Amino acid sequence: MSKNTPVAIFASGTGSNFEAIVQADLPCEIVMLVCDKLNAPVIEKAKNMNIPTLVLNPKRFLNKAAYEEKILFELKKVQVEWIFLAGYMRLIGDTLLEIFDKRIINIHPSLLPEFPGKDAIQQAFNEGVSITGISVHYVDEGMDTGTLIRQEKLPVHPGETLKELTERIHKLEHKLYPEVIAELLLQKSNRH
Ligand code: GRF
Repeated sequence: MSKNTPVAIFASGTGSNFEAIVQADLPCEIVMLVCDKLNAPVIEKAKNMNIPTLVLNPKRFLNKAAYEEKILFELKKVQVEWIFLAGYMRLIGDTLLEIFDKRIINIHPSLLPEFPGKDAIQQAFNEGVSITGISVHYVDEGMDTGTLIRQEKLPVHPGETLKELTERIHKLEHKLYPEVIAELLLQKSNRH
């Protein structure tokens, strides 16, 4: 199988999912990290793994469209076909959505539509749910509202702390996200 499909990962934070995707044996080449936070730890991770970075401060652009035009310009240069969001803390606008129709994917640490938005693990924990989980979905203009691709459940252990639950969720994410990415890329190459 060709490893040549160029993809980009968008992230704003720690980058543990970014790392898991880069380390997985996937039928794609990660040609760029796009990051909107100048000091995000994910940038260092990308440098250590020899992944080119595009780090932009959105506040320096007139509006979201101008910011995304710049990203699009850079993505086109390296012929990016898919965008995988991994802790990218920003809504995607029309500029990217129109070009990457059904080619922008996100992972979210809850069983959507429950607990969208920030601090989803904590939201579920505070609510006292007995089962939580992870969702991988297509990205639309809303906050974690796109069509679901895959969900995996994770029971909350009695007496478990938020830290312990968070660690288990992340561990599952690092396994699930590369798996789903591989499936999507395979489906696409089978259609051609
Ligand atoms: C993950 O929990 C992901 O599901 C959510 O943001 C978090 C990013 O974590 N969208 P990391 O930066 O990949 O460690």
